[in-house]
Amino acid sequence: MKIAIYPGSFDPITNGHLDIIERSAQIFDKVVVAVSINSQKSPLFSIEERIEIVKSVTSHIENVEVKTFTGLLAEFAIKENAKVLIKGLRAVSDFEYEFQMALMNKKIQPELETLFMMCNKEYSYLSSSIVKEVGRLGGDLSGLVPDSLIERIKNKLK
Ligand code: COA
Repeated sequence: MKIAIYPGSFDPITNGHLDIIERSAQIFDKVVVAVSINSQKSPLFSIEERIEIVKSVTSHIENVEVKTFTGLLAEFAIKENAKVLIKGLRAVSDFEYEFQMALMNKKIQPELETLFMMCNKEYSYLSSSIVKEVGRLGGDLSGLVPDSLIERIKNKLK
């Protein structure tokens, strides 16, 4: 079984993330969305909320599982029997940081490959932070995140 991990903070998940998850699920037998407890970020949504939200917006994709992890991503991947980490590349600016992480993950677990997927051009400018900023300032979030999340994000930002 070919298993891939798609990691991130998902605070909140955006249509850009969802696009990568849907496309990955067509390539791999199973995609584990790994929601990170990132101590360097102060999230808007708790880890429990982020997991629940990611589960709800991916419930239509049969071969997606949602989990959380602490510690090293490379070790979590091996524990999940995954050989591939999926990362979305939005712009050239993502490359340097992702390159560094891919090499470090390979050093930690040499059998692990990082696979980069180009973001859909419609979402290449998206990030969770920019979604939160637009929402905080009263902007329209439609098309940026799944419709079912818009009210929830706006309420949380109040
Ligand atoms: N569509 C929309 N937005 C996207 C996106 C896409 N396809 N891909 C990335 N983004 C956004 C994310 O939402 C995030 O936005 P934010 O900074 O506003 O929250 C931003 O781009 C950066 O994404 P990413 O680099 O994936 O950061 P992250 O915080 O979501 O996840 C981990 C980072 C979890 C992958 C990384 O910290 C990690 O591996 N941690 C584990 C610890 C570890 O092993 N460290 C050693 C690594 S070598």
